[in-house]
Amino acid sequence: QDDQFKKVVSHAKEYGYIFQSSEIYDGLSAVYDYAQNGAELKKNIRNYWWKAMVQMNENIVGIDAAILMHPTTWKASGHVDAFNDPLIDNKDSKKRYRADVLVEDYCAKIEGKIEKEVKKAAKRFGDAFNKEEFLSTNGRVVGYQEKINTILSRLGKSLENEDLADVKALIEELEIVDPISGSKNWTEVKQFNLMFGTKLGASADSAMDLYLRPETAQGIFVNFLNVQKTGRMKIPFGIAQTGKAFRNEIVARQFIFRQREFEQMEMQFFVKPGTQKEWYEQWKENRMKWHLSLGMGTDNYRFHDHEKLAHYADAATDIEFKFPFGFKELEGIHSRTDFDLKAHEKFSGKKLQYFDHEAKESYVPYVVETSIGLDRMFLAIFSNSLVDETLEDGSERTVLRLPAVLAPTKAAVLPLVKKDGLPEIARKIIDDLKFDFNVIYDEKDAVGRRYRRQDAAGTPFCITVDHDTLEDNMVTIRHRDTMEQQRVKIEDVREIIMKEVDM
Ligand code: GAP
Repeated sequence: QDDQFKKVVSHAKEYGYIFQSSEIYDGLSAVYDYAQNGAELKKNIRNYWWKAMVQMNENIVGIDAAILMHPTTWKASGHVDAFNDPLIDNKDSKKRYRADVLVEDYCAKIEGKIEKEVKKAAKRFGDAFNKEEFLSTNGRVVGYQEKINTILSRLGKSLENEDLADVKALIEELEIVDPISGSKNWTEVKQFNLMFGTKLGASADSAMDLYLRPETAQGIFVNFLNVQKTGRMKIPFGIAQTGKAFRNEIVARQFIFRQREFEQMEMQFFVKPGTQKEWYEQWKENRMKWHLSLGMGTDNYRFHDHEKLAHYADAATDIEFKFPFGFKELEGIHSRTDFDLKAHEKFSGKKLQYFDHEAKESYVPYVVETSIGLDRMFLAIFSNSLVDETLEDGSERTVLRLPAVLAPTKAAVLPLVKKDGLPEIARKIIDDLKFDFNVIYDEKDAVGRRYRRQDAAGTPFCITVDHDTLEDNMVTIRHRDTMEQQRVKIEDVREIIMKEVDM
C-alpha cells in the first residue's frame, strides 16, 4: 500500500501532474501546485462535475463568489466558534496531533486485522467464500468490529459534548503511543480553530480582520435570495459553485488528500421544510451514480453515515473511496436544515425567505448540500488509474488509465520517422484536431518508446503516420488500454476520438 502510494506521488511529479509548492525553497507543507498535465486533468474533472450538476439540471444554476467575505459571515455560520480540531501534544517528542485522528488511526489498525482475516478465509474457502456472511459470523472479526464501533461512538459523543478530557482518557485507555517517540506521555486536548486569518486595509487601527473562506458554501447562502429572485428560481432548486477553500490543517499529510489550500465543488439544494429527508436520499443516489459513471469500479466506493454530526446538520453521509491508504472520505452529503439561512437572517437582520406562490406562504428553505473536494477527486482518479502491467511477451508497462473524457491530452500524433514528409502530415492532423481537443506532437525515440511514454502520461490515443499514409491517406490509431491498433482514414480520426472523449 505504502509503495503504491509512493509511486503515485513520484509519477505525478515525473509526468508533470503535481509539484510541491515553492519547491526551490524546499516546499511549503501541505500546499501543492498543479503542473501542465495536472491543471488540465483538474479542469476536466471540474467541467465534468459542472456539466452533471449545472448544465444537465434545469433547476440548478452556478455562481462564483469571492474568497473574502464579510467577517460576520463566519460568526453566523458557526465557524468562529465551532470550526475546531481537537489537538494533543506528545510531551516527549513535542509533536502535535489531531486527537480524533490518533483514535481513528488506532481503529484503522484493527480494520487492517479484519482485512487480514478476510484474506486468509477467502484463500481457505475459495469459491465457497461469502464475505458478508464471514463478516457477520466469524467471532474474532465480529469482536474487532464491535471494538471499533464502541471506540468511534465514544469519540463521537465526547467531541459532540466538547468533553475533551474524555478524548484524552480514551487515548490513554487505548494506550495509544506517539508514532515517533513511542511514548504515551500526552498533554491535555485543546481546541484549535482551522480558519486562516488575514487583514483588509493598510493602517493598523482601521484594518479589518478577515478570514480566507474554509468552505465555498457560505458564498452561496449569502447570495441565496439574490439568485432566487434574479433567476426566478422555484423551490426545489440548487446553486452550485467551485472554488478555493483554506484550512489551517494541523495533520496535513497524504499528499493532496488533505491540504491547506484546496478546491471544493459544492451544491446547495434549497427545499421545502419537511422534504429534506427525501432530497437527502435522492442526492445520495445521484452523487453515487455520478461517481460510478467514471467506471472506476463499484467496489471502490461506499457510504459512511455519520454518527457525529457537524454543528449544522441533521443527517450526513460520506461517499468514501478506496485510496491507496484505505477507504477515506471523498465527498460529503449533508442535510443542513435551515441552520445557515436562519443564522444569516439573525446576524444580518435581513429576511432570507422564499415566497411560495402556490401555497401563498413564506418560509426559510431547508438545504441539502453535496460537497466534494476537487483535489481529492483528482487523487482518487489518478491513484486508481495508475497500474503496472505485465504484457503477454513478459515485458512490463506503466499505464495511467485515466477515463478518456478526463485525460489532459486526448491524442499524440507520431510521425514514424522525422523525414519523408511524415512530420508535415502529422502537423497537419494536429492543426485539424486542436480546435476540438488537446493534441500533442512527438517525434523523438522509436515509436514503441513513444507509445510507452504516452501510456504513462495517460494519453488515450496515439495516431501514427507512416510511409503508407503517403499512399492511402490512412493512419494507425492505437488505443492506450487495449493497445489495439486500427487503420483508419485521416478524415475519420476526429470522430473516432470524439466519441470517446466528449463529455
Ligand atoms: N460545505 C461543507 C464542507 O465543507 P467538509 O466535509 O468539511 O464539508 C467537503 O468538506 C469536502 O471537501 C470533503 O469531502 C473533502 O473532499 C474536501 N476537503 C475538506 N478538507 C480538505 C482538505 N484539507 N484538503 C483537501 N480536500 C478537503
